[in-house]
Amino acid sequence: MARLLVPSTRQSRGSFNASIHTLVEIRSLHTTPTGLTKEGLIMSKPELAKKETRVEQADARAREIERQMTDEERFSLIISLSGATGMLGGVRDKRYPEDAPLAAGYTPGVPRLGVPALLSSDASMGVTNPGFRPDDKGATAMPASILVGASFNPQLARDGGATIAREARMRGFNVQLAGGINLIRDPRNGRNYEYYSEDPLLSALLGAEAVNGIQAEGVISTLKHYTLNCNETNRHWLDAIIEPGAHRESDLLAFQIAIERSQPGAIMSGYNKVNGDYAGGNLHLLMDVLKGTFGYKGYVMSDWGATPAWDFALKGLDQESGIQFDALLWNSESFSEPLRQAYTEGKLSKERLSDMVRRILRTIYAVGVDRWGPAPKVDLARHNEIALETARQGIVLLKNDGVLPIALEKQMRIAVIGGYAQLGVPSGTGSGAVLPIGGYAAVVPIGGPGALGTHRNLFLMPSAPLTELKKLLPKAQIEFDPGQTAAEAALLARRSDLVIIFGIRVEGESFDLADLSLPWGQDTLIDAVATANPNTIVVLETGNPVSMPWREKVKAIVQAWYPGQAGGLAIAEVLTGKVNPSGRLPITFPADLAQTPRPQLPGLGTPWGTPTTIRYDEGAEVGYRWYAKNRAKPLYTFGHGLSYTTFAYSELRVEGGETVTASFNVTNIGRRDGTDVPQLYLTDAAGDRRMRLLAFERIELEPGEWRKITFKADPRLLARFDGKTGKWTIAEGTYSVAVGKSASDLVLTGNARLPARQFGS
Ligand code: BGC
Repeated sequence: MARLLVPSTRQSRGSFNASIHTLVEIRSLHTTPTGLTKEGLIMSKPELAKKETRVEQADARAREIERQMTDEERFSLIISLSGATGMLGGVRDKRYPEDAPLAAGYTPGVPRLGVPALLSSDASMGVTNPGFRPDDKGATAMPASILVGASFNPQLARDGGATIAREARMRGFNVQLAGGINLIRDPRNGRNYEYYSEDPLLSALLGAEAVNGIQAEGVISTLKHYTLNCNETNRHWLDAIIEPGAHRESDLLAFQIAIERSQPGAIMSGYNKVNGDYAGGNLHLLMDVLKGTFGYKGYVMSDWGATPAWDFALKGLDQESGIQFDALLWNSESFSEPLRQAYTEGKLSKERLSDMVRRILRTIYAVGVDRWGPAPKVDLARHNEIALETARQGIVLLKNDGVLPIALEKQMRIAVIGGYAQLGVPSGTGSGAVLPIGGYAAVVPIGGPGALGTHRNLFLMPSAPLTELKKLLPKAQIEFDPGQTAAEAALLARRSDLVIIFGIRVEGESFDLADLSLPWGQDTLIDAVATANPNTIVVLETGNPVSMPWREKVKAIVQAWYPGQAGGLAIAEVLTGKVNPSGRLPITFPADLAQTPRPQLPGLGTPWGTPTTIRYDEGAEVGYRWYAKNRAKPLYTFGHGLSYTTFAYSELRVEGGETVTASFNVTNIGRRDGTDVPQLYLTDAAGDRRMRLLAFERIELEPGEWRKITFKADPRLLARFDGKTGKWTIAEGTYSVAVGKSASDLVLTGNARLPARQFGS
């Protein structure tokens, strides 16, 4: 094996140094191995100056145009009508113009003042079509956000955002309801597939680049759901309790960093309450924190059916979304008649109404939706390539006892079992589910209680792992068993050299999981198959951790999440080694629920509509932070992911001062090209044992190649937020950091001294 211990001179392909310091250095126009041209991540100084001028002009123009409006026009801008005729009894709302495409939200424009109508579409993984537009045969279905989280690659999030925005724009949608960055606090949350990770820094960097990708195409993006909408159970009646300082160090920090980096045109508030007040009517969170401390200048829209009262306008909400849902749920379209009446009675000031309108206008002008030329040409083949490349980078190899990659040249008998692998790959359900181009391979209705029960389906994207494996392994004899019964599947397993078995689960909006098992007897199935043939590889297609009672019996485990419309191919490429896996877990897989902050999930199993309180007493110690604090040993920890090559770390140097700076070398000591994601963690802050991801970077190295990496931590990740002074506080002392392959596989450690200091905001 050649070991060329010389510094790498080439720009690392697909690299993104996620610390505060080196970002400016990595602007690059480079090509990935798959030939995708990438844009720079960070704007150059002239570009930044241009954007700042545009924003200043947007402010001035918003003031001027708002001044010329009538009150009637003002009130028309602060609501959106839902086009969800199916969910609203199949009737098209009379106020929804016949010539406007049915969208999640429609806000009329003001033509005499050149203000365009706003048309919004879901969501973070592609332009959805929940039956609104029968002639629309589908959009690029990107992998789940949690898979993007596993790529640890903000550039991919940006490419995905741009892909989605171009497809939104070609349909006339100018607001994309994307940017789901809720922190993953509970492995049972049904919507975790729509979110990136359990870590504020990782979620913020990915969410910000998704928004940047969308807004660079002239489409407004949201960041959502502000904040602590971390469980689906009774979400409209859910009160999320958290200590305010801990909130700033976790979920709010994710929003803060993402806002700083992307200036999203809109923030969508969550359904839930936070510390007693609904998120959309939470004076503290909207006025003090978001618009005050964070200096947010865009507008806050509610979630659909999340504005029970007109006075949310006084608490910081600027636009009521999908007003018909509020009429259904709370008996009133709050920002229609009730708010007008409050205005007439002097309870809503002219100044506040103008502020709501100005924020919406400012976003329109800052993002440029008023200046749309012809829709950009959409290259669907390239979009598919982006979906494929994303899936390749986000699939995580959890375990490999030497059975992977599958040798291409061997004449083996391979059994492929279960998971509808002959048809495609599953996706999550709910408002984020994207109808792929050409339609689903199949839809299996699942159903369930509650408002979205009838919308819960197993959607299969038409990229069948079985077909792709057959193409990539022409010498192998591949047979399929659907996994209907354990006994039948074991028969095929027994007469095969190798088994690839798929484990799937339907997860989605409005449902939390009762536990982490695989449904439909799949755990028993996997166990029986692994007993029949120890050369068993399990591929998991889920949006959350699974419990894996069969873990010790199988040779390899691959976490493929919901890998999108090209997912079957990406899985086959990873299994056969055409792609060297490089995904890393963005969430920790617990050994069991007893290890998690809430072994019992409050409200689980109660009828829809039951008032529920969840105390997030773990505070900022979310995910890996929690397990580290409790010295618990999870199944697989945040950051974990194997490769077909091996990386070594050396020469860690740590410096203190205002923040921690760390540099170290990464070397590929294996025999093939690969991509590593070294991670820098804080492990102890002046005697307080506290784990924080400080920085990470994806780097691609040839065998023997090495690179020096330098990270400089965002000081907020070293500090505590003091609710009383409203300041971040760094205590004087020794700060210990570690470079690791995951949050529990720490390879190099070092210390730095930091002086005491306080800083805002
Ligand atoms: C979801 C949002 C979505 C909205 C519009 C809600 O049910 O929580 O994420 O953007 O619907 O479809």
